[in-house]
Amino acid sequence: MARPSIVFICSACGGHTPKWQGQCPSCGQWNVLERCEAPRPGARAPEPAAPLALAATPEPARCSSGQGELDRVLGGGIVPGSVTLLGGDPGIGKSTLLLQVAAHVAAGARAVLYASGEESASQVALRARRLGLAASPLEVLPETHLETVLKRSAERKAALLVIDSIQTVRSGEMESGAGAVSQLRECTAQLVRFAKSTGTAALLIGHVTKDGAIAGPRVLEHLVDTVLYFENEAGSRFRIVRATKNRFGAVNELAFFAMSDTGLKEVRNPSAIFLARAAQPAAGSIVTVVREGGRPLLIELQALVDRMRFGAPRRIAQGLDANRLAMLLAVLSRHAAVSLHEHDVFVNAVGGVRIEETAWDLPVLIALASSLETRPVPDSLVSFGEVGLTGEVRPVAYGEERLKEAAKQGFRHAVVPRENAPRKPIEGIGVIAVARVDEALGAAFSRLPAAARSAPPPPQGVPARS
Ligand code: TYD
Ligand code: MG
Repeated sequence: MARPSIVFICSACGGHTPKWQGQCPSCGQWNVLERCEAPRPGARAPEPAAPLALAATPEPARCSSGQGELDRVLGGGIVPGSVTLLGGDPGIGKSTLLLQVAAHVAAGARAVLYASGEESASQVALRARRLGLAASPLEVLPETHLETVLKRSAERKAALLVIDSIQTVRSGEMESGAGAVSQLRECTAQLVRFAKSTGTAALLIGHVTKDGAIAGPRVLEHLVDTVLYFENEAGSRFRIVRATKNRFGAVNELAFFAMSDTGLKEVRNPSAIFLARAAQPAAGSIVTVVREGGRPLLIELQALVDRMRFGAPRRIAQGLDANRLAMLLAVLSRHAAVSLHEHDVFVNAVGGVRIEETAWDLPVLIALASSLETRPVPDSLVSFGEVGLTGEVRPVAYGEERLKEAAKQGFRHAVVPRENAPRKPIEGIGVIAVARVDEALGAAFSRLPAAARSAPPPPQGVPARS
C-alpha cells in the first residue's frame, strides 16, 4: 500500500507546505505548522460529467430557522444538505441561537439532532428550560465521537444536525486529539460528505481565536457552504450575525439580535437600536446612513478630540478603519485648515457595528470639527459621503435609498455629495449637496435654516481652531 503523503498545514492561515518549517511560508507566523495526511486522490468514486442543464436540479425547499433575521442572512432559510459554520467569542450566544433554531425545526415535526460535546445533556436541557423549549422533541446527544453522531443522525433521518462545537468532535479515523487542525479538517470534510449525501443540513459552531478568526480558520471556511460570524460590542446586549461567505445567498448580510432573559430575540428595526441618542445634541456626535447587509442603516458616529498630553498623538478608531481615519485627518488639515496634529483623536461607531464601506468619511470629518470646536451638530441632520485625497466629496452607492431611510427615521437635513442629490425632492428631508470638504463643514454648522438649529450656540470662551 502506498504511504499516505504528508503535508504541513498552518493552523493560523490554512496555508500548505510539503516540508516542516519553523515559520509558515504563507503568513509568516512561527510554530503554527501541523503535520497532516494529504487527502488521497481517487479515494471517492468520481461523479460522471453531465451537461449543465441536466445537472441543475430545482432548488430544494429551504426550511425556516424560526428567526426571520437569520433566514435573511442565510439567503432565505436553511438549505437541505448545506453546511454552515457559526463562529463567535465564547459566551456570545452561539449555543443559545442554535438551540432555538433546532427547537423550531423540531417543532415542525422534523427530526433534529443536537450533538453537544461542550455541555452535558442536562446542561443543554437546563438552557432549553430557560428558553421555554423544554418540551421540544429535539434529540440531544452528548457525544464527541463523530462517527457515532453521524450514525445516529442517519438512523433518525435528521433534517438538521447541530454540532456544538466542531472543536470538540473527533473522528476515529485520525490519531490526533480533538481541535487539532487535522481533526478539524477531517471532521468537517466528513460532515460535508454526510450532509451532501443525506440532505441533512448541518450547523457547526466554531470557536474563534483571539484575533477573531475561527480556530483553524481557512481550513474550515473553504470546506463549508456558509460562514457566519457572531459579533457584539463588549457589554452590549445586541448581537450581530454577519455572513462572510455564502454559497446560497449574498455575503455581508447582517442579522440583528438582542440577548434577553429568554434567549435571543430578533431586532426588526435595527436603525432604532443604534440611535438611542442623548436628549440634547452633543458636540462630536453625528448620524450617518451606512449600507450594511443589503439595507440602509442609521448609525451614530462619535468623535472626541482632546489636546495631546505627551508623546505621539493617538488615533483610535472603534468599528472604523484606523488607516482611513489617519488619511481623513490629513485631508482635514490640508483642505479645510483644521489641524489636529497636537490632538489625540478617538472615533467610534456606536452600537458595536463595524462599518466596512466609505460613506462614513464625510460625517466623521464633521464630527471631528464639531468636537474640536465644542459645537454640536443639529440633531435633525444626517450625512454620508466618501472623501478623496484632494478634498473632494465623492458619491456613494444607493444615495436615494439612504436619504429615504433618514427621512423615515425623522431626519430633516442631509449633507451629502453633490452627485448623490436626488433629482426629485424627497419628502420630509432637505438636501444640502456639497462638492468639497470645507464646503461640507460650513454647511453642517451654518447653512442650515435657523429652525433646524435645535442645538444651543457654542459656549463662550471655547478656543478657536488651533
Ligand atoms: P451561550 O449560548 O452559551 O454562548 P456560546 O455558546 O456562544 O458560548 O450564551 C451564553 C450567554 O448568554 C451567557 O452569558 C448567558 C447568556 N444568556 C442570556 O442572557 N439569556 C438566555 O436566555 C440564555 C440561554 C443565555
Ligand atoms: Mg456554547
